[in-house]
Amino acid sequence: MAPTVTSVDASEPKVASIKTVADSDALTYVPSEYTYTMDPNDKGDENDPEHSIPIIDFALLTSASPDERAQMIQKIGKACEEWGFFQVINHGVPESLMKEMIDACRRFFELPEEEKKEFQTRNLLDPIKCGTSFNVAIDKVRLWRDYLKVIAHPEFNSLYKPAGYSEVSLEFSKRTHAVATEILNGISESLGLEADYIAKAMNWDRGLQILAANYYPACPQPDLAIGIPPHTDHGLVTLLIQNDMCGLEVKHNDQWVLVKAAPGAFVVNVGDQMQILTNDKYKSVWHRATVNNTATRISIAVPHGPALDTPALPISELLEKEGEKAKYIGMTYEKFMELQASPAAYMMPCLDHLRVKDN
Ligand code: OGA
Ligand code: NI
Repeated sequence: MAPTVTSVDASEPKVASIKTVADSDALTYVPSEYTYTMDPNDKGDENDPEHSIPIIDFALLTSASPDERAQMIQKIGKACEEWGFFQVINHGVPESLMKEMIDACRRFFELPEEEKKEFQTRNLLDPIKCGTSFNVAIDKVRLWRDYLKVIAHPEFNSLYKPAGYSEVSLEFSKRTHAVATEILNGISESLGLEADYIAKAMNWDRGLQILAANYYPACPQPDLAIGIPPHTDHGLVTLLIQNDMCGLEVKHNDQWVLVKAAPGAFVVNVGDQMQILTNDKYKSVWHRATVNNTATRISIAVPHGPALDTPALPISELLEKEGEKAKYIGMTYEKFMELQASPAAYMMPCLDHLRVKDN
C-alpha cells in the first residue's frame, strides 16, 4: 500500500541525522546542541546482580499444565507491580527473525539522507515517519538518536526500501503481536479477570501497534549525551528488542537499573494505559536510553495500545474488589497520544492530566 506522505512544514528546522553528525570526520566531542547534563548521582547501577528485571518463561505461560501457567501469571502480576518491566524468554519468535528485523532497520538508517527525506513527515499518526531527536521543532537538547516509526496494526504499512524491509517487518509484526496478545491475556488473568477481558475492553483487534526503531551511534562522550531522556510509554504493553548493545535503563526503587536482557528475549514494559486500567496497581515505569562510546546500538520498541477511539478507564471490577474510587478520567488513546506529543507535556508524565483531583 502506498503510504500517505505529508510534506514537512517549511518552518521546521532542518537537522542532520545523528548518524551524519556522528560519522563526520573525527568527531571527538558532543556538539553543544546535544549536551545533556546527567546528574552524576543518578547513574545506572550496572553491577548489582540483585537488580535485574524478572524473567517470564513464555513456554510455561502458554503451557498445557494449569499449575505452570498459574505460576507464570502470578510472576507477571508481581513483575508489573514491582518493576513495570520484565523479560520474556522461550517465546518462539526465532532469534534469526529478530536479527533480520534489526538488520533491515540498520539498512534503512544507513540509506543516503536524500533517500530518507520522503519519510520525514511530521504528524503524530502518519503511518510512516522517520527523523532525529524527538521533535526538532521543540527539543531543548537534541537526542543522540534517529528513529523510524511504522504503524503495523490495525493496518500494516511498510517501506519499499531498503530491500527486504517490507517482508521481514510483516513477519516480525505478526509474531510480536501474537506474543503481546498472550502477555496482555496473562496480565488480565493476573488481575483476577477473564484472560480476554482487557483485550475486549480496549478493542485490541483494532489496537495500535507501532514498529519504532531507534538508532544510537557510538558517542565520543556518552556521559554528555542521551538517547532518550526519562519517559513512560503511552500504550498498554511495549515489547523491545535490541542488537547486542545495552543502554536501556529502568527506574526501580529510585535507582536506574541497566537492563541486561538474554539474547533473543523480549523486554516488556507496562504503559500508561495499563496504569490507568489498573488504577495505579501496575506501574508505567520511567525508563531512558543511554548511549555508549563503542558501537552503534539499535533497538526496536513495539508499543501496543488500545484502538485509537477507545478510552482506558479504571476497571470497575477491580475497583469493587479493592474498594477504591477511580483515580483517572477517560480519554481516547488518540487524544492521549496527542497530549503526550504536545510541547506542553514534553517528556512529562501525562497521567497527571487525567488524575481525578479530589481523590
Ligand atoms: C522507547 C524506548 C528504549 C531503548 O523507544 O520508548 O524507551 O532502549 N526505548 O531504545
Ligand atoms: Ni520507552
